[in-house]
Amino acid sequence: MGTARLLKLLSLFMGFSVLQQVRGWVISVPKTVTAVEGSCVVVPCQTQPHSRVIWYKYHNTVYPVVYDGHSPHKVEDQFEGRTSVVGKATEGNCTLKINDVRSADNNIKVYVWINPDSKSTQKFHHQTVTISVIERKAPTISIQEQIMDGDILQANCSIIHSCPSSPPSLLWSKSQFLKNSTVKAFSQEMQGQWLYTETLQGLAMYEMHRSNMMCSAQFSSFTTKSQQKTLDILYKPVTVTLMLAKKAVTEGGSITVECAANCNPPPHTYTWLKREMGQITKITSTLSRKPFINITRDTFILCIAHNDIGEGQSDWLDLDVQYAPVILPKSYCHLTGEVLKCVCQVEAHPDAVIHWTIDGNDTLPSSFSAFSTNQTHVLSGVISGQAQSHSKVSCTATNTLGNSTKKLSVNSSETSFLSTWLTVSIILGFAVLFGCTVLIFRKCSRDRPPPGSVCNNTILSRPQGSSDSVQLQSPIYNNPQRSEEDDSQSSPYRPESNPEVESRVSDVYDNDCVTDFHLIRAQQLHSKETAHLREGQKQSLDKTVDCNTDVYLNC
Ligand SMILES: *[C@@H]1O[C@H](CO)[C@@H](O)[C@H](O)[C@H]1NC(C)=O
Ligand SMILES: *[C@@H]1O[C@H](CO)[C@@H](O)[C@H](O)[C@H]1NC(C)=O
Ligand SMILES: *[C@@H]1O[C@H](CO)[C@@H](O)[C@H](O)[C@H]1NC(C)=O
Ligand SMILES: *[C@@H]1O[C@H](CO)[C@@H](O)[C@H](O)[C@H]1NC(C)=O
Ligand SMILES: *[C@@H]1O[C@H](CO)[C@@H](O)[C@H](O)[C@H]1NC(C)=O
Repeated sequence: MGTARLLKLLSLFMGFSVLQQVRGWVISVPKTVTAVEGSCVVVPCQTQPHSRVIWYKYHNTVYPVVYDGHSPHKVEDQFEGRTSVVGKATEGNCTLKINDVRSADNNIKVYVWINPDSKSTQKFHHQTVTISVIERKAPTISIQEQIMDGDILQANCSIIHSCPSSPPSLLWSKSQFLKNSTVKAFSQEMQGQWLYTETLQGLAMYEMHRSNMMCSAQFSSFTTKSQQKTLDILYKPVTVTLMLAKKAVTEGGSITVECAANCNPPPHTYTWLKREMGQITKITSTLSRKPFINITRDTFILCIAHNDIGEGQSDWLDLDVQYAPVILPKSYCHLTGEVLKCVCQVEAHPDAVIHWTIDGNDTLPSSFSAFSTNQTHVLSGVISGQAQSHSKVSCTATNTLGNSTKKLSVNSSETSFLSTWLTVSIILGFAVLFGCTVLIFRKCSRDRPPPGSVCNNTILSRPQGSSDSVQLQSPIYNNPQRSEEDDSQSSPYRPESNPEVESRVSDVYDNDCVTDFHLIRAQQLHSKETAHLREGQKQSLDKTVDCNTDVYLNC
C-alpha cells in the first residue's frame, strides 16, 4: 500500500492525514468522518497486516466496545448489529463501517485496538475519529417547467447519502398515464458525501396535466419524501363540451351556452356555429359564454375552441326548444256506419295532453276507446266508438306553454258511397252521350248536303259573344279528364278535329251544316277553352250529366 494512495484516501475525509508512529506501528485514520443519518458511514483505517481488531468508543473511565469480531456480545447496545470491519486484515486494512447512522451517533469518538491478544498489542486511543452526523435528508425532485403533449418528460430525483456501497433506493410516485418510462441512475461525490440521482424519462401525455410527481428515498430505518411537483402539460383542446345555463328554452326566448374546452393553456378564441333550419351562422368571440336570442325550434349549436397549441370542436348541441301545442291539419274524424273514429295530431314540446269534446260534453261515453301514440314531439290521439253522424267533435291539446283547440269535421262513409255512385253515373252518362253523338254524327253526315259557306256567319257570331254560356251548356268541356289532357298541350291550337268538340257543337246548335262547321269551330273553341281552363275554373262534376236526347232527335 503506497503512502501516496493512503494520503489521497485520507484527504478525502479530512483534508489532511495524520501519520503517527507508535513503537514501530503506523496507523492512519481521519480525524473526522461525516455521516448522513440513516445511511452508513465508513471510517477508513490502514495499518500493518494483523489478526484481530477491536473498535472502542472513547470514554474517560470505561471501554465501551463498538466492534469486536471475536466477541460480538461485548458490543455496546448502541452499536449492536450495526458495525463491521470491511477491510482485509492481511492487507493491514482495519476500516470500520457503521450502518444505519443515528442522530445519537453524532459527535462520538472512536479508536481502534489492533491485535489485542498479542504481545505487540497496539491501542491507538490517542488517535480518535469523530463521527459527525448530518440530519436525515429528503430527496429533491426537478421536472421541466412546461412540457408539450407528446414530448419527452424528464424528471430528476437526487438524495445525499454517505454510504457509496449501498445508496438508499429511490421510489417514484407518478401519474398512471406515464407508461414505459425508463430510469437511469448515477452517483456523484460531493465533499465527503455522495449524491445519488435517478433520471426518469417517459412520454408526456395531456392526461397527465396537473398530476403530481414525487419521489421518496428509502433508508434502512426510515423513508424521506421529496416535495410534490405538479406537471404542466401544454395541449390543444381535446374535448370541447357545450353546457346550458338552463336545460330548456321557450321558442322565441334566449339561452346562454357555455363552451368548456379541455386544453392547456385556456382557449383564447371561440368560434360559435348556429344551425337554424339548415342555415349556419358563424360568430367569433373571446368569451366562453355566449347568449343566443330568439331561439327557434330545430336550432343546433357548435363551438370550436382555439388555444396556442391548436383547436378542437364540440358536437352539435340540439337545443331543447319548447313551444305551445299546434294541432296539425291532418287531424280528422271519420264515420263508418255508426262507428266514429277521430284522430288528433298535435305537435308540441313538452308533450301535450289531448282532451276530446263530443257535442259539448268533455266526458267520453264509456263505449268509446281512446289511446294515443307519441313520436318525437308529435302526439297522435285516437278515439273511436258509436256515435251519430251529426256529432260535433273537437280536440284540445294542452302543455305547460299553452293550448290549442280544433273542431274536427265528421266526414262519413255514406257520403263517399254517394260520390262513388255519382262518379259511376257520370261515366255512364258520358258513355250514353258519346254513343248518341256518334249516332247523330253518322246520321247527319249521311243525310246532309256537301259543306257550304251559308251558315258560317250565324254560327260564328254566337259563340264569340257568349262563350261562357256555351261552356256551361257543354257537358264535354266540363269533363275533368279532358281538362287535364288540354292542359298538357303546349299549343292551344290543335290541327285535327276532335269527336268531342264535334259532339258539343251539334249539341248546342241545331244546325245542318255541322260537317262543314266543326273544323273551324273546333279550332276557335278549343283556343277559348284552353284559356278558360288555364284560369283554373273547373266546373263541378254534377253539371256534366246532361244528355238531352231531344237535341239529338232534332238533327
Ligand atoms: C480498505 O477496505 C475497504 C473496504 O474493502 C476499501 O474500500 C478501502 O479502499 C480499503 N483501504 C485501502 C487503503 O485500501
Ligand atoms: C436532470 O439531470 C440531467 C443530468 O444532470 C440534466 O441534464 C437535466 O437537465 C436534468 N433535468 C431536469 C428536468 O432537471
Ligand atoms: C409501451 O411499450 C409496449 C411494448 O414495447 C408498446 O406496445 C406500447 O405501445 C408502449 N406504450 C406506450 C404508451 O408507449
Ligand atoms: C325571431 O325570429 C323569427 C323567425 O326567424 C323572426 O320572424 C322574428 O322577427 C325574430 N324576432 C326578433 C325579435 O328578432
Ligand atoms: C256526458 O257524457 C257522459 C258519458 O256518456 C254522461 O255520463 C254524462 O251525463 C254527459 N254529460 C252531459 C252534461 O251530457
